[in-house]
Amino acid sequence: MRAVDVIARKRDGSELTAEEIRWFVESYVSGNIPDYQVAAWLMAVYLRGMTRRETVDLTLAMAHSGDMLDLSGVVGYAVDKHSSGGVGDKTTFVVLPLVAACGVPVAKMSGRGLGFSGGTLDKLESIAGYRVELTLEEFRSQAEQYGIVLCGQTSNLAPADGLIYALRDATATVSCVPLIASSIMSKKIAAGANGVVLDVKVGMGAFMRTVEEAKALAHLMVDIGRDAGRDMVALISDMNQPLGVAVGNALEMREAIETLRGEGPQDLREHCLTVAAHMVRLARQNQAEDTLVEIIQELTEHLESGAALAKLRDLVSAQGGDTRMVDDPDLLPAARIVETLEVPANGYVAQINALEVGQAAVELGAGREKKGDPIDHTVGVLCHLKVGDQVKKGDLSFTIHANEADRLEAARRRLERAVDYRRRPQAPLPLFYDTLTG
Ligand code: URA
Repeated sequence: MRAVDVIARKRDGSELTAEEIRWFVESYVSGNIPDYQVAAWLMAVYLRGMTRRETVDLTLAMAHSGDMLDLSGVVGYAVDKHSSGGVGDKTTFVVLPLVAACGVPVAKMSGRGLGFSGGTLDKLESIAGYRVELTLEEFRSQAEQYGIVLCGQTSNLAPADGLIYALRDATATVSCVPLIASSIMSKKIAAGANGVVLDVKVGMGAFMRTVEEAKALAHLMVDIGRDAGRDMVALISDMNQPLGVAVGNALEMREAIETLRGEGPQDLREHCLTVAAHMVRLARQNQAEDTLVEIIQELTEHLESGAALAKLRDLVSAQGGDTRMVDDPDLLPAARIVETLEVPANGYVAQINALEVGQAAVELGAGREKKGDPIDHTVGVLCHLKVGDQVKKGDLSFTIHANEADRLEAARRRLERAVDYRRRPQAPLPLFYDTLTG
């Protein structure tokens, strides 16, 4: 086989065979096809698309390009979640302890943030000492001993995705449904989960801008997972405004801890309870009497009793982090300058552009413009408004946490543009648009 022929066939709109796709991926990972040919192929895929069958074959080829974890001997049924990324999304820090408190083991590998969308590992590292890099052996034994583990992907987990994602980033081929679906699902399949809950975000602060696009991506990922023998649920959730209040690493960690204490913003709490309930229901697949409502009740009790917070403490302790920061979030690292913004006139909140809020946090130093950039864990934004709120002139709109005056100024300008106020009442946004089970 020759790479140039595979590229030409895709360029001309042909459906590639499973063998061609497997060979292309394997040859790239083993260094036998150069970046420039894969880049050309990615653009052909971007322009011509892929059939469902091609996308499944691409996903499996990428999943099998490295280690395939099997946790069945360790935790029985492994359940995982994935968020397609957004602004203020600290769900994982609340959901994993909640699910573990129900006696369902959770073993998750996560990534770093890029652009406006924050990353789980970056947020975790605001807890002093927390070790995000574990060996496979540590990952397995912590899952067995504590029933909760949260770390970075091991370097040999779906290595084809790491290589291809870097090329996509540099060749304007990221926003392509078959490429996104295969990227996400190859890592989930390789990480060994039996059941996966996908939290597919839609709106201004997400990769998918319309509910239709998000549903198309979710359906494809659910189909891929089911073809690979996994139980799947996809939630289509709103990302037009930030989730919760905090955007920025240590600020989000504090909010997650507050939520686990039974406090925290209502939208975040409800969102986390829903995601966690779907995970628990997947794991208890033989207990038909467990309805979502009953599981949410059980999860709520774990929030109120402190059992879920205790699981976060177990997690932080097992991975070398400073558990005093869980018990007293005032010990989390903090920025030097704190400044507030006010609502300019009486009215109703019609829109909070989540993308602008996410970009303001990046401008302050909370995120990275390109891979490998350093980040500042202390800075970020608190957004005190929700779409539909009635507000008065002088109400608090944002709190900015900054370390440098010029960055503060840039963030302030962006945040002033981010909110659209109207005179007439505005409908609030839903948390979820749909649930797909395949
Ligand atoms: N997240 C991923 O892991 N891959 C993508 O392509 C997009 C979001």
